[in-house]
Amino acid sequence: MCGIVGYIGPKAPVPILMEGLKRLEYRGYDSSGIATVEDGRLRTERAAGKILNLEEKLRLKPLSGSYGLGHTRWATHGRPTEENAHPHVDCTGRIVVVHNGIIENYSELKRELAARGHVFRTETDTEVVAHLLEGEGDDLEAAVRAVCGRLTGIFALAAASVRDPDKIVVARMGPPLVVGLGEGENFVASDIPAILHHTRNVIFLDDREMAVVTRDSAAITTFGGAPVVKAPTRITWDPIQAEKAGFKHFMQKEIFEQPRAIRDTLVGRISLDTGRVHLEELNLPSADARAVERVVLVACGTSWHAALCGRYMIESLARVHAEVDYGSEFRYRDPMVDAKTLCVFISQSGETADTLAALREAKAKGARTAAVCNVVGSMITREADGTVYTHAGPEIGVASTKAFTTQLVALHLIALHLGRCRGALAAEETAVQLHALQHLGGLVEEALALESQIEEVSRHYMRYEDFLYLGRGIHYPIALEGALKLKEISYIHAEGYPSGEMKHGPIALIDEDLPVVALAPRDAVYDKIVSNLEEVKARDGKVIAVAHAGDDRIRKVSDVVLEVPPCEPLLAPVVNVIPLQLLAYHIAVKRGCDVDQPRNLAKSVTVE
Ligand code: AGP
Repeated sequence: MCGIVGYIGPKAPVPILMEGLKRLEYRGYDSSGIATVEDGRLRTERAAGKILNLEEKLRLKPLSGSYGLGHTRWATHGRPTEENAHPHVDCTGRIVVVHNGIIENYSELKRELAARGHVFRTETDTEVVAHLLEGEGDDLEAAVRAVCGRLTGIFALAAASVRDPDKIVVARMGPPLVVGLGEGENFVASDIPAILHHTRNVIFLDDREMAVVTRDSAAITTFGGAPVVKAPTRITWDPIQAEKAGFKHFMQKEIFEQPRAIRDTLVGRISLDTGRVHLEELNLPSADARAVERVVLVACGTSWHAALCGRYMIESLARVHAEVDYGSEFRYRDPMVDAKTLCVFISQSGETADTLAALREAKAKGARTAAVCNVVGSMITREADGTVYTHAGPEIGVASTKAFTTQLVALHLIALHLGRCRGALAAEETAVQLHALQHLGGLVEEALALESQIEEVSRHYMRYEDFLYLGRGIHYPIALEGALKLKEISYIHAEGYPSGEMKHGPIALIDEDLPVVALAPRDAVYDKIVSNLEEVKARDGKVIAVAHAGDDRIRKVSDVVLEVPPCEPLLAPVVNVIPLQLLAYHIAVKRGCDVDQPRNLAKSVTVE
């Protein structure tokens, strides 16, 4: 996810662009840049790292201009360096573009353009857009329209050209774009916070729509050229609320971003028509995948819960032994790994000290390594042999949510890749799994609709001081994750247990003061979880069950039923964790906790 801002009007553009980029920093902050146009000249300034670095460069070398574009990057293709920072220009330096999204066919476009003599300066997918525009005529609107027809993937674009001055042209296919309407001035942005200090009147572009923005007008059309008439929306949020897109906390916003994050993580990686999984970035070709004798998944915290789910996925789909370890344990136990072991390190931040140390230990022992990570260019991604990135966008809330569900998606893709390469996964089963991935975002949206019921449930359950979470099979890790979510943001003691373990101790805890949250989808171990819940009810326990709609058996043994849609079993954890995230969130809010920055915790544990 990146941040785009543009300004055209009578004022100096640079201060407006820089202020806008700072308000978009939550969208991406590994590099940034701006471009201005003045008297037929295009100037750009870019910097790696925080926006402060760009600010310092502009202080030393100010940029003037009559209008301009800005971008703050959250790298997906190409390292977070100055040369990869947006804006990007064409060969002549007279056309500039900023982009948010993923252009799936950029490699073939880049080859085609290079064969025509275009010289590329960056590793990014975005740069191909600038060179494609160069090949079109001077009319910037027509050029953008033509280029949009060449791109596959998702993109929000903003472009300017000295060949067709005094206008900014934007196009949307996927990531958001808004046009801000001022008096004798207009704005474009990825998100409202960037421009809210200047105007509250915005127009939201929809997919396959473009806008030609001058200081006095904003003409909207479809990619096909048909005019679109849209009434401006008046934004009443305050600026801080705007950064959370109207949500109360970043955590709540990120919970609701999960359908988009899941879809973005799948872009360019699955083909339903060919039944293929495209994971070149894993850097594990078929022959190497077949040589793997064991998979070891290593992580910490919520990422360790993802690893536990990944084990079920890999053993089920790839039929290869898989095991899981904490980074803090793996690094000190002189692990038995070698060249025939694939060690997968899962980390949202890519900077967790224990996970990074475990990676180094595995490499020292000659193991093949891979990372699942949400931050391009982070330490773990730089040292692993290959990385499958989750495209969740920056996760600001300390409690991990969208990173967790996209980790599960990435691990499922790795399991499919291993299964296909090793001949363990038939085409028919592959099709079933790919179809389930394709529809996963929609099922998560259905689960998110539980929020109002869960908000009501949290009123009653916020007063308890102990919770027990139960799950079986692939839902045991989800019980652990639900318990971690609750304890880390509400400070209520909660523990997750495999429900089959009830008789071996935890059942001694059951009474009316210990709510039990149970994952009870109709899967292979459903009957077992029902009997566990009967045991809980027989001892006056209170049960909150996550179950499928219309399940009367569960209703008889539960005080609350949170109904989730059925899902392919290996992906059901992605859907069934949603109500647990919402339950933890609303209980913590009602207890007055600092949900986004819970006490004693850090977003990334970069020390032991
Ligand atoms: C999750 O909600 C916690 N914030 C924490 O357990 C986190 O998952 C853990 O510190 C690992 O972080 P990483 O994924 O960035 O490696």
